[in-house]
Amino acid sequence: MPTNIESIGIVGLGYVGLPLALAFGREGVAVVGLDTDGARVERLAAGVSDIEDVPSDELAALGELFTPTTDPAALKGCAAILICVPTPLANQREPDLGYVTASARTIASVLEAGQTVVLESTTYPGTTREEVLPLLEESGLSAGTDFHLAYSPERIDPGRSDHTVANTPKVVGGITPACAERAAEIYGLICEEVVTVSSPEAAEMSKLLENIFRSVNIALVNELAQLTDRLGIDIWEVIDAAATKPFGFMRFDPGPGMGGHCLPVDPFYLAFKAREVDFYTEFVELAGKINQSHPLFCVRKMERALNDAGKPVKGSKVLIVGVAYKGGVADLREAPALKIIRHLRELGAEISYHDPHVPQLRGLGLESADLGEAVAAADLVAIITTHPEVDHLALVESAALLVDFRGVTRGIEAPNLVRL
Ligand SMILES: NC(=O)c1ccc[n+]([C@@H]2O[C@H](COP(=O)([O-])OP(=O)(O)OC[C@H]3O[C@@H](n4cnc5c(N)ncnc54)[C@H](O)[C@@H]3O)[C@@H](O)[C@H]2O)c1
Repeated sequence: MPTNIESIGIVGLGYVGLPLALAFGREGVAVVGLDTDGARVERLAAGVSDIEDVPSDELAALGELFTPTTDPAALKGCAAILICVPTPLANQREPDLGYVTASARTIASVLEAGQTVVLESTTYPGTTREEVLPLLEESGLSAGTDFHLAYSPERIDPGRSDHTVANTPKVVGGITPACAERAAEIYGLICEEVVTVSSPEAAEMSKLLENIFRSVNIALVNELAQLTDRLGIDIWEVIDAAATKPFGFMRFDPGPGMGGHCLPVDPFYLAFKAREVDFYTEFVELAGKINQSHPLFCVRKMERALNDAGKPVKGSKVLIVGVAYKGGVADLREAPALKIIRHLRELGAEISYHDPHVPQLRGLGLESADLGEAVAAADLVAIITTHPEVDHLALVESAALLVDFRGVTRGIEAPNLVRL
């Protein structure tokens, strides 16, 4: 099998695929980016990125090194093909591997001996071997002998600049030791450290462990925030104090609820696999239950704040500040703000929102309002997501009533201020 790595194919040019394309391009490796979304491919071909972590000028600077396309034949000749397509949930909250299997079929139709295929999409243990491998072998080639196959989870944290593709260790597990070695060689081009594990299953499971660890700890701290709310204790003061312990404690902050594509979805992937072996991931599911219901607690807190100000929710003007699932990004997937808005509307509130990253909420028929005007008109302003562009402390001065679910006002006491 050839060792020279002159070009890489990336299937799926979203939050995961596009930063990878940029990382390889920066190292002088030609990147073929395959996506089924023709409009996205056209934008990318014109040097326009819609992913915050990939500035358009840097993408455009790759020039001929980056070829976005909808034509699978362009993957021929690439040393490796990395699969970065979505792994959402189906209607019954079961894994929907449709995007993964569709890409595997597409790759099989152009696969060549000597190529390396790596699945990056987050999924349950066994997917690479049980789902992807047989589809790729429909090409007539054999995994481990004719082509390499591995799994390597993406660890990107959108909107983050301290931990990048380059300085975040990359875990790799191959179908054979040679598959792992080849995948490690490929990622070694863009990552300072590659961690090889013994199998794709170990690599798949490690990603789920990382995400479920976060999900469980977020549920824990949100549940404690609900308790301290009732006890009249400031949760932020408690966490700040606990976080002074130099060992045995890791800080997690409460908030309006958990969002994003990964954390709310991954536990269901694991639970699905667990059921196959008659195992029930009760602990994991309990965390999911708490996280799912936490936005409702936030709605009740806003309801109480309005009540204390002598106003019913019905007919009150509520301004939501920040609707993306986290600061610095435009990603709305599973964003708790959407759930909060729906519940407040059900109660009869008039909703406006301000988010510098999200100009429109199409499904809800809303457009991001001018912050100053919307604050002046609102009976209640709720800080749901903190983007760096917004001066949240100024809201304490200007809002009639402010509810802070992110703890950005901690240390401040004011009659119009309510904090989680
Ligand atoms: N977003 C994150 O922060 C993050 C972090 C780590 C891991 N992941 C995982 O990475 C995977 C991809 O997530 P994402 O956030 O980049 O998704 P995304 O929706 O941003 O991008 C996926 C892209 O794949 C394209 N696509 C879908 N089917 C295709 C096909 N058959 N062939 C070619 N292109 C196809 C879509 O058009 C889209 O452009 C998921 O499994 C996710 O769980 C995401």
